[in-house]
Amino acid sequence: MDAASHVPVVTIDGPSGSGKGTISREVARLLGWHLLDSGALYRLVALSGRGSGLAPDDVAGHAALARAMSVEFSGDEEGRERIRLDRVDVTREVRSEEAGQGASRVAAWPEVREALLARQRAFRVSPGLVADGRDMGTVIFPAADLKIYLTASAAERALRRHKQLKEKGSDANLAALSREIAERDQRDSTREVAPLKPAPDARIIDSTGMSIAQVVESVLSAGRARGLWS
Ligand code: DC
Repeated sequence: MDAASHVPVVTIDGPSGSGKGTISREVARLLGWHLLDSGALYRLVALSGRGSGLAPDDVAGHAALARAMSVEFSGDEEGRERIRLDRVDVTREVRSEEAGQGASRVAAWPEVREALLARQRAFRVSPGLVADGRDMGTVIFPAADLKIYLTASAAERALRRHKQLKEKGSDANLAALSREIAERDQRDSTREVAPLKPAPDARIIDSTGMSIAQVVESVLSAGRARGLWS
């Protein structure tokens, strides 16, 4: 690919509650780049399967939905995210813990991951892409211009998720959340296909005790050091 047609990609991978979503959105906004929230796609497959009445273990059925579902990411007048699945607004359902658990389950199936591959790569559009997920730097964009692996202690991640859910008006129990996060970490990092792990060339940022602004700045300065932006 020549320099003129090269669309830069920054990948931000890491476990649940590491702050990937917030950091990716903010970095994309500051750069004026597109955002791929790959976790939302897995969540949408799980929701779509449930809405279609699929058996929870119907792998081929979920893979077919992953290919066929119509998904629309947008923002409302106040800049809040809006997600539509087959024209229906599912913004709230997508962010529920239930959808997160369902996503982690369907994400372990190679057929579903394969079905989402082209859809994810299609987000790479000029002027650039910030891709948020678990395997962005290892599988989806292995030649990304900058790879970040964002993590934080399990206790801090549970606290952040708790705060986030409460702000969205959902009931959340901290002990249950900690257990769910540990379960999800275990499943995501031990599955056979595209397990959660840092790419060998990823820059690891442990955000425990760091503010959002500090993490954003460390991503931006890593890109600056590589000449990706000034
Ligand atoms: O980031 P998230 O919580 O929205 O992700 C939901 C689940 O989807 C997560 O438990 C693992 C899975 N996932 C994945 O396997 N690969 C990705 N690139 C993104 C998410």
